[in-house]
Amino acid sequence: MKLTTAGESHGKALVAIIEGLPAHLRVDMQNVNAKLALRQSGYGRGGRQKIEKDQAEILTGVRNGETLGSPVTLCIYNKDYANWEACMSAGACDEAVMQKKSLTKVRPGHADLSGVIKYGQTDARNILERASARETAIRVAAGAVFAEYLSALGVQISSYVKEICGVKDTGEYTFADVQKAKTTQTGMLDEQAEALAIEKITQLKADGDTAGGVVEIRVKGLKSGFGSHTTYDSKLDARLAQSLMSIQAVKGVEVGMGFGVASVSGKAVHDEIAYDENKGFYRTSNRAGGIEGGMSNGEEIVLRIAMKPIPTLMKGLKTVDYVSKQETVAAAERSDVCAIFALSIIAESAVAKTLAETVAERLGGDTMEEVTARYNALP
Ligand SMILES: Cc1cc2nc3c(=O)[nH]c(=O)nc-3n(C[C@H](O)[C@H](O)[C@H](O)COP(=O)(O)O)c2cc1C
Repeated sequence: MKLTTAGESHGKALVAIIEGLPAHLRVDMQNVNAKLALRQSGYGRGGRQKIEKDQAEILTGVRNGETLGSPVTLCIYNKDYANWEACMSAGACDEAVMQKKSLTKVRPGHADLSGVIKYGQTDARNILERASARETAIRVAAGAVFAEYLSALGVQISSYVKEICGVKDTGEYTFADVQKAKTTQTGMLDEQAEALAIEKITQLKADGDTAGGVVEIRVKGLKSGFGSHTTYDSKLDARLAQSLMSIQAVKGVEVGMGFGVASVSGKAVHDEIAYDENKGFYRTSNRAGGIEGGMSNGEEIVLRIAMKPIPTLMKGLKTVDYVSKQETVAAAERSDVCAIFALSIIAESAVAKTLAETVAERLGGDTMEEVTARYNALP
C-alpha cells in the first residue's frame, strides 16, 4: 500500500493516489468530507479557512461506493485558485501579478530560504506553495480511506489536545473520553484548561504572536505483532515517528512514556506481563504505549507529538531580503495563530496511513474479505 500526494497551496487542486487498497472496501465520502471539515476547525485558525470549504472527489479506483483494487485517486479543488490563476497557472502566467505575489522576504521557521537556494529560485513562492500545510488537506482525505480499512478490522484511532502554548490538560482519559475531543473548540477535554487556552490564543493574536502545543493520539483494537524487530525500517514505532514527523511544524514524537523514561528507574517504566484465559497475554500497565521491540503488543497505542508555534508572525521577525540582501521584516501572509486542533486530525490520518500500510504488508489480500479473514485468524 502506498500514498503519493501532489499539489500547491494556491494551485488548481490537491491530489492523492493510493495504491494497494484491496477490492470491496466501502468508501463513504460523507465521512471523508466530515474529516476535512474538522481539519478546518478549531479556535485560532486564519482567513484561508473561510475561503476553502474542502470537499474531496474520487477520480479513480472506486465504483458504486466500493474500491476495485486499482489505484484510488482523490482530489480537492482549491477554491482560492480563482484568485491566483494569473500567477499560479501551469501555463503562461501574468509577469506583473507574479512579481506582485512574489516573496523574497524569506520567513524564519519556513522552508523559504533553504528552498530557494536548493532549487535555484529567487521567488520563495516556488517553495512555500508546496511546503505549506495546505498539503495536509489531501492527506486527511486519504487518511479517512485508510481509517475505513482499519475500521473493518476493528481498529480505531482518536486524539485530543494535551497542551496549547504552556496551558496543559493534565487529565487521564479513556479511549471513549478522547473520542469526545472533536466537539470542543480547541480539542482539549478539560473545560478549565480549554478556557485558559482560548484566553492565551486570543492574547497571542492581539500581540501578533502564535502558539503550538501537544497532541496525544490513541489507537485501540490493533492486535499484537504488527511491525517487526527484525529490521530497522520495519519497526512500528520508527515508522509512526517518521509519519508523524513528516507533518508540517511537528518537532517531537513520543511513544508511551516518551522522554519520561529517562528520569526514572526500570521498575517505573516496564509493563509486567500477565495471562488470563479469556484475554490471553496482557500487560498490567501500558507505559510502553502499546509497542515493544518495534511490534504492537496488543495494548492501546499511545503517541504524543509536539507542534512548534506557527512561524508566520503578524509582527514579523527580522530577516534578510533574498534578492537585495538588505535587512528587513519577514513577509506575513494571512495565517493561523494556532492550528493544533487541525493537527490532531492530520495526526490521526498519518497514523491511519502508517498502520494500514503495516497491516497490508503482513496480511496482503486482494479483497477485504481476505484481509478480514486473515486478521481475525491471528491470535
Ligand atoms: C494544520 C497546520 C496549519 C498551519 N498553518 C500555518 C500558517 O497559517 N502559517 C504558517 O506560517 N505556518 C503554518 N503551519 C506551519 C508550517 O507549515 C510549517 O512550520 C512550515 O512549513 C515549516 O516546516 P517545519 O515547521 O516542519 O520545519 C501550519 C502547520 C499545520 C500542521
